[in-house]
Amino acid sequence: MPVVRGKNIEPLFTAEQIAERNRKMASDIAAGPTKDLLVIAVLKGSFIFAADLIRALHDVGLAPEVEFITLSSYGTGTVSKGVRIVKDIDSVVKDRDVLLIDDILESGRTLLFAKELLYERGARNVTIAVLLDKSVKRQEKLEADYVGFECPDYFVVGYGMDVAYAFRELPFVGVVTGDAEG
Ligand code: IMP
Ligand code: MG
Repeated sequence: MPVVRGKNIEPLFTAEQIAERNRKMASDIAAGPTKDLLVIAVLKGSFIFAADLIRALHDVGLAPEVEFITLSSYGTGTVSKGVRIVKDIDSVVKDRDVLLIDDILESGRTLLFAKELLYERGARNVTIAVLLDKSVKRQEKLEADYVGFECPDYFVVGYGMDVAYAFRELPFVGVVTGDAEG
């Protein structure tokens, strides 16, 4: 099992599996709405997935404009939760097909907020691509249009995703299972 910074990391989805899913997702995306396509990556967790998926979109003949939005959730537990914009996009959204890219769809709050925001700004169509779907954790009525993998209810790291700011650089998705010996 890979050991990274003294922790055992159990791989859940390998780099090869992810690359294969990205190619399939790109061809599915190409078959959907792509008029004047604007791709928006939701930072920070999606940055590696977005970079790979956008290049896979190129391989199937798409040439999207690429933007980034930083969103943050606030409130925990029983306190009412919300999402706020930390850093917004600059591009005009009106009458365009928009593809939102995120790492994980969990409660659905983040992506529901983003989807509604883009429709309010006049997007023609908003679709969602996520690497992982933790569907058992869903709280909002929202599904992704393109899903890499159904994800078991573990806290995962790697391929852009972190725990306490660590492990974003791993080329695969894994689960921290404990301290390595020695
Ligand atoms: P939600 O769908 O609004 O609940 O938010 C999902 C977001 O929570 C994702 O975009 C991630 O940023 C974060 N997240 C959820 N589960 C994990 C995990 O297992 N590892 C790392 N980040 C996670
Ligand atoms: Mg996120």
